[in-house]
Amino acid sequence: MSEDYFLGVHEKELERLKRQHEAWRPETIQHFKDAGFDQCMHILDIGSGPGFTTFEIAEQYPQAQVTALDKADLYQSYLKDEVVKRGYNNVSPLHADLLNLADSKTRYDGAFCRWVLAFLIPDLTEVLTTIYDKLEPGGVFAPMEYLSLDTFTCSPPSKHFDAYRNAWKNFYLTNHGDANIGTYLPQMLVEVGFKIRSIKSVGGHSPYGHRLYTWWRDAYDNFAPTFVRDGLMAQQDFDELQKYWTAQANNPHAYVYTTIISQIVAYK
Ligand SMILES: C[S@@+](CC[C@H](N)C(=O)[O-])C[C@H]1O[C@@H](n2cnc3c(N)ncnc32)[C@H](O)[C@@H]1O
Repeated sequence: MSEDYFLGVHEKELERLKRQHEAWRPETIQHFKDAGFDQCMHILDIGSGPGFTTFEIAEQYPQAQVTALDKADLYQSYLKDEVVKRGYNNVSPLHADLLNLADSKTRYDGAFCRWVLAFLIPDLTEVLTTIYDKLEPGGVFAPMEYLSLDTFTCSPPSKHFDAYRNAWKNFYLTNHGDANIGTYLPQMLVEVGFKIRSIKSVGGHSPYGHRLYTWWRDAYDNFAPTFVRDGLMAQQDFDELQKYWTAQANNPHAYVYTTIISQIVAYK
């Protein structure tokens, strides 16, 4: 199988993805509803990772067969074990690279992805064309991707927080990804033939202790040390931000305004 994507694939990241799914579960489930997955019989979860969204779709829509496509060995083997453990009879793993899917003859009436396309920027037109081809006429595609990291800020303000946000942006850019993908994704979907049914922006104001505040804290613990190591963030910003997080526990008005997630419903 091809090389892992740049966020890294390992047990600790698998556990973070699980917590991340819990944090975004309400918005994700609403997106399934907006997409009309209740009308679908065969849904492709693209870049499913360990399968947290796959299992959610399989449980919410038992009428549908859900195919979980991911190229990461660890995530596919976790997913296969969970399918057996949880006794799902409507989940099929697909250990494949999205970029090598062109020859497959299977067609779906629904497709979903969350936090995948931002890693595939150099091949985005090819990727979206492949997804379009894999859908039956009338089939729905429901991506959920970052709109932009530029909205990500905090109150009270902190220049160390700004340094952390910039590190995230540059982490994507230096690895040929782009966390601002949501700003141009609708346009690109239309260019490959999709019609857009709806676009929604979710996330935003999250007071201290809110599930989305905790999500960003969690991402900091897991990624900021790597940013320091790779020269994307100064050690001093890391240390000061650590103190900032701790201090906000005693501030009833502290909040972050998260990166905004774009939820698009497009159809063929
Ligand atoms: C940030 S994770 C998101 C996982 C899952 N969608 C979720 O929301 O929990 C991105 C996933 O995309 C997968 N991925 C990246 N590039 C891929 C490709 N070319 N083909 C298949 N999977 C890919 C990675 O292996 C990883 O599991």
